[in-house]
Amino acid sequence: MGNIDRKYAPVGVFDSGVGGLTVAREIMRQLPEENVVYFGDTARVPYGSKSKNNIIRFSRQIIRFLETKGVKAIVIACNTASALALDTVRQEVEIPVIGVIEPGARAAVRETANGCIGVAGTEATIRSETYTKVIKRLRPDAEVIGKACPLFVPLVEEGFARHHITEEVIDIYLREMKDTDIDTMILGCTHYPLLRSRIMAYFGENVHIVNPAYETAMDLKEILGKEGLLNDSGRPGEYQFYVSDAAEKFTAFAGSILPYDVAATRQINIEEY
Ligand code: DGL
Repeated sequence: MGNIDRKYAPVGVFDSGVGGLTVAREIMRQLPEENVVYFGDTARVPYGSKSKNNIIRFSRQIIRFLETKGVKAIVIACNTASALALDTVRQEVEIPVIGVIEPGARAAVRETANGCIGVAGTEATIRSETYTKVIKRLRPDAEVIGKACPLFVPLVEEGFARHHITEEVIDIYLREMKDTDIDTMILGCTHYPLLRSRIMAYFGENVHIVNPAYETAMDLKEILGKEGLLNDSGRPGEYQFYVSDAAEKFTAFAGSILPYDVAATRQINIEEY
């Protein structure tokens, strides 16, 4: 396929489940002509408590599936998979593969004045210290304070984002961080942007909250532009959604994140890839 045809090929976006739709939403907003194939690994979520080996295995399978859809680039719209699998899988495919950590870290380094940055994420993301490593590569004198917040994901998925219990959990997890000098805080998990206003209110106006999704979509635009792969059809992009478990739960939640029709979500057996 020449670059002219490849321009119109879809972008593959994947996550452990629904959370990556916060990244897909940003891609759809910033790149409205791009076609998107989204895969949510709803049968194997959460990734945040799994081992590196399994996350690499899952990511490889999903990339093989997305390749059957003829994608021209892949966005790993999951912080945990970006932290643990991106470096490995990126070397195994010909097409560009981007994650959310590098863009999130870059945005935080740009925003911080005092170099003190907080990161909230899953256990696996925080344990990997990937955010810390990338931030320090960009700003060696930075101080990075990570905190795993495992209950945030089920709270969001249960529709408790505005429930008072969530306010208490935010306080329990983030109180120590609030008492530090951080002036910037990264929402280092796909679900956390759905708690953004809560977390912003908790930290107050002196702490800048970074959502890596925004910067990731900008990165994708830049990479596609550089490779001559930006879709300039003049038509709105078409979206396909796939999941590895029953589609109903996904569509119910997806409808609350995306202003698009997700009714045609299809279930596939990801273990076949
Ligand atoms: N998508 C995951 C992330 O961004 C959160 C959910 C999970 O643990 O799988 O880290």
